[in-house]
Amino acid sequence: MPDPIPTPAAFKPRSHFNNWISAIGGVVAAGALFSFALLVWMDFTQGDKNPYLGIFTYIVAPGFLIGGLALAFFGAWAQRRWMITHAAMPDKWRLDLSNPAQRRAMFLFVLGAMGFIMLSAFGSYQTYHYSESVQFCGEVCHQAMNPEFVTYRRGAHARVDCVDCHIGAGAEWFVRAKINGTHQLIAYTLDNYSRPIATPLRNLRPAQDICEKCHWPEKFHGNVEMNYEHFLSDKKNTPYAVRMLMHVNKSAPGSPPGGIHWHVNETEKVEYYATDDKRQNIPWTRVTNLKDGTSRVFRTPEFTGEPPADRIRVMDCMDCHNRPAHAFPTANEAVEKAMAEGTLSRNLPNIKRVAVQAMTQTEITTDAGAAQKIADYLRAKYTDKALAAELPGAIAAVQGIFTTSIFPERKADWRVYPNNIGHKDWPGCIRCHDSKHKSAAGQVVSSSDCNSCHTILAQGQGTELMQLSGAGLEFKHPGGELDPELTCADCHNGGLQK
Ligand code: HEC
Ligand code: HEC
Ligand code: HEC
Ligand code: HEC
Ligand code: HEC
Ligand code: HEC
Repeated sequence: MPDPIPTPAAFKPRSHFNNWISAIGGVVAAGALFSFALLVWMDFTQGDKNPYLGIFTYIVAPGFLIGGLALAFFGAWAQRRWMITHAAMPDKWRLDLSNPAQRRAMFLFVLGAMGFIMLSAFGSYQTYHYSESVQFCGEVCHQAMNPEFVTYRRGAHARVDCVDCHIGAGAEWFVRAKINGTHQLIAYTLDNYSRPIATPLRNLRPAQDICEKCHWPEKFHGNVEMNYEHFLSDKKNTPYAVRMLMHVNKSAPGSPPGGIHWHVNETEKVEYYATDDKRQNIPWTRVTNLKDGTSRVFRTPEFTGEPPADRIRVMDCMDCHNRPAHAFPTANEAVEKAMAEGTLSRNLPNIKRVAVQAMTQTEITTDAGAAQKIADYLRAKYTDKALAAELPGAIAAVQGIFTTSIFPERKADWRVYPNNIGHKDWPGCIRCHDSKHKSAAGQVVSSSDCNSCHTILAQGQGTELMQLSGAGLEFKHPGGELDPELTCADCHNGGLQK
């Protein structure tokens, strides 16, 4: 039989909350409330909006608040239970300031509580900065984000924070990013994010807000020189280089800009419709003169309908520079770069071909298994004793190239992340400049011949590279006569040529 409830006369009436457990709960709740208020204030006043901060502000801090309150109520409930069952000594957990031992404990407790609240404010502030750091995005989410982090760190934007491109100011993007950020963190925790991670086409802010903070199209006048160092897949690994000038901006100051950056000029707008999510297949493009409103539409012969209005996109920087921070080099390109730099020895016959083949074996399915499979592949190809001294270095070099360009466990490499800047391994510019897109009047998209976008200054090897041609050379294709019906990407796919 339970003890009868003690009569009020047995002790002074007092709150059930008057106990140590509730006091601790109260302090935790107060600290959380304080942090919450501070985080909300930072969230609304700081310029750069950050989705992960939202997780701390709207999930973690309220979590502690609820936890603290729950503890306070639990204390009251436990106190009441104790009272009911121990009528003889109902006051066991009571705070009693007339007791000197409890007074001392109380003093220490209040001191500790104040320290705790101060620390939680400091913690919130640190959290704010931490959640937008490159370290948080790239390293804490290391497993998930590894390919993006590796590619980012060697790019031109290695010193630009992730959030500068992925998140920016503005209420609409703020909400979008916040929902997206929460979703990402949950997916990461549950380990059910997609592999490869989808390209954030619709979540990325428009280029004007991101890129033009630091770059603006009018700034580039004239040509940009590019240097490509290739090696053929022959026994001698014959070098083959192309030096060219890209006509980024041909105009003189004051006149409307022409050249490659014409697409982002102020007087005309280029729009397009892509049938796929990777934006590789573009059957329709439109140029609108922003002054008089006239427009010209170019379409492929197969595409006779009208594009859905909500899928028409205005061309911006990222339609060409879509990999400003995360360029996944092709196996071909990565091997050639290592050969040009000398990290991969050119003394091994056919090493260009063998290295690319070793990296693109279909048997490689995990990050961990890759090193062994690459080593086995190279050892099987080079059994000649005379080459034994070169082999270990070459194996290490190919393994190194592999780990920084192909990520099997994340299924991330150039094959899933096209680069649209050129037209050799991906359609790129040729998505529109293929002489197949025609206007109603039958005109093709201009600038589709080899010299409109660039001129070749020199090509070949050795002394051939010393003589520069101002007028531009015709491209000498090392793989034989070029068939005008074929695009480069019909044969070149980043691995070995078909
Ligand atoms: C210079 C701007 C810029 C910076 C800095 C940047 N990114 Fe990106 N990121 C992009 C663009 C642009 C895309 C979309 C690529 C496309 O449209 O093909 C992208 C795509 C991604 C993707 C989707 C997968 C993919 O490759 O398409 C992830 C994940 C990502 N970024 C993470 C990061 C992380 C983590 C950092 C910091 C370590 C970072 N980004 C820094 C511009 C940037
Ligand atoms: C916070 C400033 C900043 C932002 C934002 C930024 N960039 Fe850059 N970008 C730089 C700097 C600095 C360099 C020069 C790096 C160097 O000299 O190596 C650079 C270099 C470049 C280059 C030439 C070098 C190369 O090899 O790629 C391109 C192209 C470029 N940026 C495009 C973009 C695009 C597209 C965006 C928008 C997605 C963007 N940038 C956003 C600062 C920025
Ligand atoms: C039609 C495609 C296209 C568009 C759109 C475009 N670019 Fe470029 N951009 C190029 C090409 C091609 C080059 C030459 C360098 C190369 O091939 O990598 C270049 C060069 C650059 C460079 C390097 C210049 C240098 O001096 O090294 C920067 C920076 C740059 N672009 C930024 C931008 C920004 C910012 C935007 C948007 C406002 C933009 N680009 C829009 C194609 C484009
Ligand atoms: C979405 C379709 C599309 C893509 C992709 C595209 N362009 Fe264009 N480009 C056009 C259209 C449309 C015109 C205008 C054609 C006309 O007026 O006949 C144009 C015009 C040009 C011009 C002439 C500009 C002038 O001076 O008047 C150059 C140069 C050019 N593009 C280069 C490039 C390069 C380089 C790339 C790839 C990095 C590229 N384009 C990708 C659609 C595209
Ligand atoms: C619409 C513009 C445009 C047209 C037309 C064009 N190119 Fe290019 N080309 C580019 C751009 C942009 C790049 C590479 C930029 C980069 O790598 O950043 C490039 C790169 C190249 C390269 C160097 C690629 C490498 O990896 O070595 C060669 C070679 C080349 N083009 C040859 C040609 C030939 C031949 C034609 C005519 C059949 C042609 N191009 C037509 C824009 C164009
Ligand atoms: C019919 C298929 C085919 C077409 C189309 C083609 N190539 Fe090639 N290409 C080859 C072959 C085969 C080789 C020789 C491969 C080797 O020795 O490594 C080669 C070699 C090259 C190389 C030097 C080696 C390398 O792997 O980079 C370059 C650069 C090149 N081609 C650029 C182009 C460009 C630019 C275009 C488009 C204008 C183009 N190719 C169109 C088949 C083709």
